[in-house]
Amino acid sequence: MKYGYFDDDNWEYVVTDPRTPVTWINYIGTLKFGGFVNQTGGMLLCKGDPAKNRITKYIPQLPASDLKGSTLYLRLHTEDGYKIFSPFVVPTLDEYESYECRVGLGYTKIVSRFYGVETAVTFFIPTDDQIAIQDITITNKTGKDITLDAIPVVEYTHPDALKQFTNADWIPQTMTSEMIIEENGNRLLVQYPFMTRDFKLNILSSSEPAFSFETDRRQFLGRNEFGTWVAPLALQEPELSNTEAIRGDNIGALMFHLDNLAPDVSHRFQVLLGQYDSVETAKPIIAKYRQSEVVDAALADHAAFWQDFLTGMQVETPDVNMNRMLNVYNPRQTYITKNWSRYLSLYQLGLGARGIGFRDSSQDVMGVLTFAPEEGLELIRQLLHTQLQNGSAMHQFNPLSMVATNGEAGEDDRPDFYSDDHLWIVLAVAAYLKETGNFDVLVEEIPFYEKDKEGQPLESDTIWEHLCRALEFTNKTVGVHGLPLAGFADWNDTVNLLKGAESLMTANLYGKALLEMIELAEYLGKMAPSTKLNTDVSTKFSDYHATMKAHVNEHAWDGNWYVRYFDYDGTPVGSEQNEEGKIFTNGQSWPVISGFATPDRAQIALDSVYNLLNTANGIKLSTPGYDGYDADKGGVTTYRPGAKENGGIFLHANPWVMIAETLMGNGNRAYEYYNQLNPAAKNDHIDEYECEPYVYPQNILGDEHPQFGLARNSWLTGTASWMYQAGSQYILGIQPTFAGLRIAPCIPAEWDGFKVSRKYRGSRYNIEIKNPDHVCQGVKAVVVDGKAVPGNVLPLFDDSEVHEVVVTMG
Ligand code: GLC
Repeated sequence: MKYGYFDDDNWEYVVTDPRTPVTWINYIGTLKFGGFVNQTGGMLLCKGDPAKNRITKYIPQLPASDLKGSTLYLRLHTEDGYKIFSPFVVPTLDEYESYECRVGLGYTKIVSRFYGVETAVTFFIPTDDQIAIQDITITNKTGKDITLDAIPVVEYTHPDALKQFTNADWIPQTMTSEMIIEENGNRLLVQYPFMTRDFKLNILSSSEPAFSFETDRRQFLGRNEFGTWVAPLALQEPELSNTEAIRGDNIGALMFHLDNLAPDVSHRFQVLLGQYDSVETAKPIIAKYRQSEVVDAALADHAAFWQDFLTGMQVETPDVNMNRMLNVYNPRQTYITKNWSRYLSLYQLGLGARGIGFRDSSQDVMGVLTFAPEEGLELIRQLLHTQLQNGSAMHQFNPLSMVATNGEAGEDDRPDFYSDDHLWIVLAVAAYLKETGNFDVLVEEIPFYEKDKEGQPLESDTIWEHLCRALEFTNKTVGVHGLPLAGFADWNDTVNLLKGAESLMTANLYGKALLEMIELAEYLGKMAPSTKLNTDVSTKFSDYHATMKAHVNEHAWDGNWYVRYFDYDGTPVGSEQNEEGKIFTNGQSWPVISGFATPDRAQIALDSVYNLLNTANGIKLSTPGYDGYDADKGGVTTYRPGAKENGGIFLHANPWVMIAETLMGNGNRAYEYYNQLNPAAKNDHIDEYECEPYVYPQNILGDEHPQFGLARNSWLTGTASWMYQAGSQYILGIQPTFAGLRIAPCIPAEWDGFKVSRKYRGSRYNIEIKNPDHVCQGVKAVVVDGKAVPGNVLPLFDDSEVHEVVVTMG
């Protein structure tokens, strides 16, 4: 089954059958004000924080056919009475004559036709203002005059999204709605819980005044809520009741009459929803968006933002699905993930269980640097504010309060720190510097997280020092084999071993972070070194690298692969000796990335991944899965074999294998892995996979599971960042380095070549890569603006000009 197609010219995925296997969504706005819209017009909105300031009541656990936060009803006057239907299918479930949900960049447009009435609704949030717009155009295609009413509806939640579900007396006693009529006759339907009456109001309005309104769900559905969303009894009356709710389940419903609409005539109007500190603040913003020209201009601005964003890099490879992902969908997902972290999706429900993760966001930053490096830096700064004086980091924080917590570390007598968090920021900062060349940022001072009684930071130091301390923390925090202690968890949150266990993943991540810092120190030493920085660390860090490399190779080689952990008692986890969890993917990719694996072992380890862990739907995280709960292993044993971290295909770990394969020069295999994960390539057989074909999911069930191939947890996953890095920097080999842009492709040998247009440090490079000898790797000639240049790092120009580059592989 196919549920839609890619409209490449418009950068849209078009859902043509709204009955998708699971709900498919699109993000609008940002965490500051925004949320998502699903393929049937359901909308979740929040402002600043989905847990503490949520606006619409979108309950993902309800069936797909139920109202989710908002809808639009149309009411056609016929000889037999009213024909009531939703042009979004949900919740009335009428048969459509045509249906399209265009999932665009930051907007969703639903175009449908029911009973000869064509409706087009664009949902978006302007780049510069906090207002959710539904731009609605209704066209009469019945061939005769019609009279029609339009009734947009939103259902509100209490801003405390979790309390909404834990208290059914206090919540309804707080919820209030009132109608305010402006001097000019326009209407503002205001909604708030009593406690925020004087400073925080949800306001629903429209470009033309509604004739009547409803704010009480019970009135709207009718008969003590034995009326339903499918057939609300209030819609059997000519007008809504104009009830201003002083308690209860609040909604906002507005009634518009479109009288005598002639054939082929359209009526356009806007429904506007925002949250403001007062009616007075809201008025000018709402007045502005009552004008269709302003709405058009805002949508055009929005398109211009994405147009500009995506020009960071565009590619033309022989693989249309790779082009789709690298040009549009993967950059969009990296940006959404950077903005929303793991805060709010259909799977991460944003009810307050977690904040912004240090580890996750550090990796998310790396995915957006091509397109929005300064936004990446802003997030890096925030993250560094939650690093501790000893170099380790708090696990997660709330971006509004900047209060950080240590996640689950320390619970149930487990270690009270995460083994890896702080190391990821080293990679993120290095990546930022490679992109921008803005080395001055290293001297910027940022406080560590510890505060005195007045809440003032105890200590600040340079970003450079923050990074050095991160390395020193791991250097000191080792176990009996000299390998880093695993703490509560490393990257794999779900393997929670007892105190004393050691992590090979952290050893390798530390190795990679050391390589970055050694290279950076050497680069800075060669360039005019800033006197403020002690960059004289490369010898020390090289020693650390050599020492850890020796420990890894002495203790962790299992014969055909590297082990993944040593447990508290010294037994290996991820070894031929184990019955379950014999081999782990990250155990093999990361020793290649860290430079710890010897060339022979690297090849053997990567072949073991290919032979033992690869499937047609991606590489499993480990095998075999643990069959049964084991408190001493922790979370990984809470789900059945083949699911998520327990032997499932955990996508985030796949690009690391791709990167490792390119480091070994194996472009054929790197691309095979890339292609088998590409969601766009699954569009024609999506029923097994179920999730959106235009984003990466976090997990796919592995082949030990009866539902092998089923994807879940789409959108907010580190997969987005790493697939982008693997595809653009390692397979296509367009690699920012401290010194400039290096061209080092590692592609399938059968490719004749490819083209890339890349913005970089103030210039644009139009790069054509030719592969006449059909090799995977190797650059034999680089010509820039007609002149041969030595090596494969492009000269820097910073001249706002376009430079033509021809690279010949061989
Ligand atoms: C989830 C977490 C991430 C962790 C991964 C593997 O994606 O957000 O922090 O690294 O799972 O357990």
